[in-house]
Amino acid sequence: MIDAKLISAEVEKLFASIEFTSEPAGLYDPLRYMIGIGGKRIRPTLCLTACGLFRDELPREIHDCAAALEVFHTFTLIHDDIMDRSPLRRGVPTVWKKWNEDTAILSGDVMLIDAYTRIAKAPSKCHSEVMSLFSRTAAEVCEGQQYDMEFELRSDVTMQEYEKMIGLKTAVLIACSAEIGALVADADPKSCEALYRYGYQLGMAFQVADDYLDAYGDEKVFGKPIGGDIINGKKSWLTIRALQKTPDKDVFMDAFNMEAATPEQCKDKILKVKRIYDALDIPSDARAEIRRYSDLAIDAVKDLPCDITPLRDFSEKLIGRAK
Ligand code: IPE
Ligand code: IPE
Ligand code: MG
Ligand code: MG
Ligand code: MG
Repeated sequence: MIDAKLISAEVEKLFASIEFTSEPAGLYDPLRYMIGIGGKRIRPTLCLTACGLFRDELPREIHDCAAALEVFHTFTLIHDDIMDRSPLRRGVPTVWKKWNEDTAILSGDVMLIDAYTRIAKAPSKCHSEVMSLFSRTAAEVCEGQQYDMEFELRSDVTMQEYEKMIGLKTAVLIACSAEIGALVADADPKSCEALYRYGYQLGMAFQVADDYLDAYGDEKVFGKPIGGDIINGKKSWLTIRALQKTPDKDVFMDAFNMEAATPEQCKDKILKVKRIYDALDIPSDARAEIRRYSDLAIDAVKDLPCDITPLRDFSEKLIGRAK
């Protein structure tokens, strides 16, 4: 087993030394910008944590895999911010805002290719498994993003449909990160599968927390504009739960469909929708749901043939997040 401090030092070192092609700068600067500002880097951290469960030392090749996961994730954010018209990410302007949409599309494309170049360095003993898991996951993230957009236009999205959507757009990549760590560590197939299930449930908790923080977080800490999901008409966990609980769907949908063209209208709409969430006690339901998923994550790994303390610590840290 490898302790969390060492893993976070490894992740730090990995991203301090990561390099991208220098020219044309207009294409690669956004990659350096996004990786440089850094996020929480939970996917590479989970990948190394999973690997470390089965090893006393991290194999050299795990670093390329961990980097690939973060580079892929960051690519999805660059495109997601265009789709969600979001001006702020990790506390700084998004790529499409700082440069322009064309740059965000093309730099995102080359970033996806960079992620593939890195994941292709997976060790030969698990190369084909890692590649097919990574490719399947990448396609699933696109499927989830498509449902996310389609749901904006619907007011009859069920909790089941919502769960499928966030499973695809968010949970599968976290699951894939955990499983790749186990695959590179040469863990037995049952353990690899358990780590996937752990990552999946944790990913579900993570997206419900993201939805919660989008409405109730502190912008300075969260690094993204508060209320963005409400303005965009996103069917977040809070929205779906409110639609389940409200005695009058029309009242809720009237608030949810309010025009938000000016800053004043945005402020007013966010206030009105949150007032309904509060009255229905949605924030405390969301916290219970996050806990439920994190319990399911631990359930998935409780029979692993190794000490799962690092996985318990990782999930506790993740669900207690404010950013
Ligand atoms: C944001 O992911 C997108 C979601 C899946 C909610 P993170 O919250 O991991 O973003 P960074 O990488 O830390 O900025
Ligand atoms: C993110 O969903 C999922 C992906 C980027 C694939 P969100 O749209 O909720 O993520 P944020 O809130 O912008 O980070
Ligand atoms: Mg989105
Ligand atoms: Mg977004
Ligand atoms: Mg979000």
